[in-house]
Amino acid sequence: MKTLETLLVDIKDGIAVITINRPKALNAINHTVMSEVGYLFSEGLPLDELKGIIITGSGDKAFIAGADIKEFIGLTAEEGSEKSAFGHKVFNSIEQCPVPVIAAINGYSLGGGNELAMACHLRICSDNAMFGQPEVKLGLIPGYGGSQRFIQYLGKGRAMELLLTADMIDATKALEYGLVTHVTPPQELMSVATKIISKIGSRGPDAVAKTIETVNAYFDKEQDGFGLEIDYFGKAMASDQTKEGVAAFIEKRKPNFRGTNS
Ligand code: CAA
Repeated sequence: MKTLETLLVDIKDGIAVITINRPKALNAINHTVMSEVGYLFSEGLPLDELKGIIITGSGDKAFIAGADIKEFIGLTAEEGSEKSAFGHKVFNSIEQCPVPVIAAINGYSLGGGNELAMACHLRICSDNAMFGQPEVKLGLIPGYGGSQRFIQYLGKGRAMELLLTADMIDATKALEYGLVTHVTPPQELMSVATKIISKIGSRGPDAVAKTIETVNAYFDKEQDGFGLEIDYFGKAMASDQTKEGVAAFIEKRKPNFRGTNS
């Protein structure tokens, strides 16, 4: 893996922890952060060897406070669209990653930071986390998928209100709205994230990858999610991983999925 300027990557026991490391700027996503996240999810991470990925922010104040506003100065409309399209590409690569990705949200999750969190498969947060899409305060709209993914998690009514007012919600509200699935004390955030990823890592890896793909298909207007499920269910039935899972159930033992081919 090449040397990274803005991210820390720690791989242990098959789990990669990616830390966005710009604490003085509350981990705001500048071009280098976006490029390095893109590099990791396209070629930098050894996905075949990983059970899961955790993304978090450096320090105890912010997960990510948004795109780096200082980089907006002087951009033309064309450059703005290019910036947005690049962010979409990178965040789509997180969403489509065959290995489960969880955002461990340790503080402010705003704008582009919240958009990154929403591209992850799962989100948990510490009880000091605050969430929002404050772009309209800047006279802007979300640029990295927020206008679309916020609706997927919150529904149109709640998403519209938060997008139009730029109000933030706290961890309790985020749990109630379904934006996160667990709220923890700050000191337990990473251990809870690791526990969830380890549990998923003990399941059939190919089944996990295909589940991610099939769930994502629901939100893709070009795809038939039901058709994909029928196809993948059939293929799974004939796979070594399902044979191992079924045999383990009948023999009353733990399955050894990682020793099988899909
Ligand atoms: N971009 C660049 N720098 C940022 C930043 C951002 N999004 N958020 C915080 N910072 C910097 C501040 O400029 C400050 O740096 P200096 O010390 O050099 O001045 C440092 O981080 C600490 O921030 P504050 O002093 O503001 O900390 P605070 O505790 O008073 O406030 C905050 C925290 C409420 C998160 C506030 O920093 C804030 O409102 N940040 C901006 C949030 C925002 O608008 N995010 C959306 C960005 S637009 C976007 O993301 C578009 C998109 O969809 C692609």
